[in-house]
Amino acid sequence: MATATQNALRGSPRRFEYRFPPGFERNLVWLAWRRFRPANPIFLFQHLAEKYGDIAHYKIGWNHIVFLNHPDYIREVLVVQNDNFVKERTVRRSKMLLGEGMITSEGAEHRTQRLVAQPAFHRQRIPAYAETMVREAARMRESWSDGETRDISIEMMHLTLNIVAQTLFATDLRNEVQELADAINGIMGLYNFLVMLPAAEWLVHARPPGLAAFVRARKRIDAVVYRMIEAHRRERSDRGSLLDLMLAASPDRSPESERSLRDQVITIFLAGYETVANALGWTWYLVSENPECERRFHEEIDRELQGRLPAYDDVPRLRYVEMVLAESMRLYPPAWAMGRYAQQEFQLGEFFLPARTTVLMSQFVLHRDARFFPDPLRFDPERFTPEAKVQRAKFTYFPFGAGARQCIGESFAWMEGVLLLATIGQRWKLTLVPGHRVEPQPLITLRPKYGMRMVVQRRTS
Ligand code: HEM
Repeated sequence: MATATQNALRGSPRRFEYRFPPGFERNLVWLAWRRFRPANPIFLFQHLAEKYGDIAHYKIGWNHIVFLNHPDYIREVLVVQNDNFVKERTVRRSKMLLGEGMITSEGAEHRTQRLVAQPAFHRQRIPAYAETMVREAARMRESWSDGETRDISIEMMHLTLNIVAQTLFATDLRNEVQELADAINGIMGLYNFLVMLPAAEWLVHARPPGLAAFVRARKRIDAVVYRMIEAHRRERSDRGSLLDLMLAASPDRSPESERSLRDQVITIFLAGYETVANALGWTWYLVSENPECERRFHEEIDRELQGRLPAYDDVPRLRYVEMVLAESMRLYPPAWAMGRYAQQEFQLGEFFLPARTTVLMSQFVLHRDARFFPDPLRFDPERFTPEAKVQRAKFTYFPFGAGARQCIGESFAWMEGVLLLATIGQRWKLTLVPGHRVEPQPLITLRPKYGMRMVVQRRTS
């Protein structure tokens, strides 16, 4: 495909030469509302993959949209032709909450932000975070009582929010966790509605009564973030935390700089806790539904840790725990879809596409494709042994994205996931409350729609 692309890029095709992939003839403005309900775009993506295969085209209004469902195409957009693409409309719209942070910014601004934050995610810094992760997970496991029911989804959110605050921002947010989580939940509830709403950015700015909840929630989040920044300034802390790095790179205290600082902090906060919390919530569910896997999971933790709390050095030994987490993110990837927007016309395989085309891809759909993951709905951590991983084509599994915009927190997330699962799994067995409905809800991340109510039982062996 690379050769075909190079050939095509030698001569720029004119408009009448565009060649679109097969797909819906009818404009989806109406179809989307009637048949697929935009509230769950996963149905639409699954349908496109089943009907049209590797690549499909449709239009919503004037906009051309291409859905990719093959690793070669995904590589082409995220890596090979990355320079031609910026984030698509949904991400741009999340500026209403995130402002110009690392996820939403582009070009030089993005490069600067990534450079400033990089040292906080450097391999050398990660071990220091392990201690905090285990300490907070141990604190949580001590607060549970045998036989009680907990919403594990909420528990994991509080835990990971606290960990991001302490590790990256050197701030203890234990007293504010509930307030922050409530505000963020309020925004998530409105998210799908807001991204579909025409002129949503303007409306939020104008603060009509219907969007008052969004504006209120954003204000509450901002207040916590500004308090955190102020506290750091007062203490003149220089512990090398991410917040210290961001403060050092902030040129002055002008309203623009303060706003930019707020955007950067809030982006890492949201990206860094909600994703990991969801990955863990789904993992507890899948472990509890698969007794043989649960047995091996507990057996490895007991064997490797011999009753002591895990530490950074244990992570490579907790291989099965990592395989379980990887398989969980295959079936329920926290980032369930990604999109890009073409700045120039471009070629994908045999197709020529115009500038301003939106390109979408879905981890949720590709990770469940039987061509790459046989018997795809079966939960099977063995898919992630080192041997199995080497045999699989690249870009079939991409929970952290790929290319220049690949997740900056990937190593952080793997370590946190393994340590939290091991610390909690050492002491507790979690079982889904009988009859509790489990359904994925694709918001910014893939959340369990009805939460994850589980009974916690103290382990005896
Ligand atoms: C299981 C956990 C996580 C998953 C599944 C995940 C997934 C992703 C994905 C798919 C992207 C790329 C989005 C795109 O290219 O459009 C991304 C970017 C990003 N992630 Fe994560 N993430 C996780 C954890 C974290 C953590 C722990 C942090 C920080 C503490 C973080 C911070 C970021 C940031 C700042 C970006 C933007 C990077 C850039 O554009 O340069 N993520 N993440």
